[in-house]
Amino acid sequence: MITGKMKVTDVVKAYPGAVEIFNDFHIDYCCGGKDALEEAIQKLGIESKSFIELLNKKIVNQPQKSNKGQVLAVERLSEMEVPDLIDYIIETHHSKERILLSEIDELINKVLLAHYEHHQTQLVPLHGLFSDLRKELQEHFAKEEKLIFPYMKNSFTGDNKTGYVKDLEDEHEAAGNLIKEITACTNDFTAPEDGCASYRLAFKKLQELVNDVYIHIFTENSLLFPKYEGGI
Ligand SMILES: [Fe+2]
Ligand SMILES: [Fe+2]
Repeated sequence: MITGKMKVTDVVKAYPGAVEIFNDFHIDYCCGGKDALEEAIQKLGIESKSFIELLNKKIVNQPQKSNKGQVLAVERLSEMEVPDLIDYIIETHHSKERILLSEIDELINKVLLAHYEHHQTQLVPLHGLFSDLRKELQEHFAKEEKLIFPYMKNSFTGDNKTGYVKDLEDEHEAAGNLIKEITACTNDFTAPEDGCASYRLAFKKLQELVNDVYIHIFTENSLLFPKYEGGI
């Protein structure tokens, strides 16, 4: 059963199907996942008791209707050892997000030019925010793949004297903050009525990227790092 005292991240570990609802309501389960669920709900200005009742009804009492793929994935990842989990993260999230970043970059440039006249107040800040996010993520992936992940694989003793985990968590938080700004700037990924197909596609792919980054950060912060630090 889900309670308000549970940490958001623990709710996702126990009931991965909650991710979909958390995404819909912008409950941060990656960087802000250490908050108690009731605090996270209150921050949104929602009444926590009825929201938790809804979660239990949808996720705990009707697990067959929740996202089965997500449930199976988190269960499988929880059982993996650090080196395998690292390979999984690179193959799954880094690869997918690199492709999305380059596709979105091209689309946003195209849309910026086509709709500059009527939508510059949205597109100019979005272009800046997306450029910052792309830079942050590309450099972060390089640091993980070339420096920190090989170190974690080779010194698999839970040794964290280097502060690498804290470094990565801070970078995740910076990316999470940019994502929140992008979500607000795009009106929750809703293209304007007069937006062309490329406008809509850019927003759709941005949302896909954001959802993937959230699961990615959750997998590192809440599954990989505790396993590494605990020497599991
Ligand atoms: Fe990563
Ligand atoms: Fe990361």
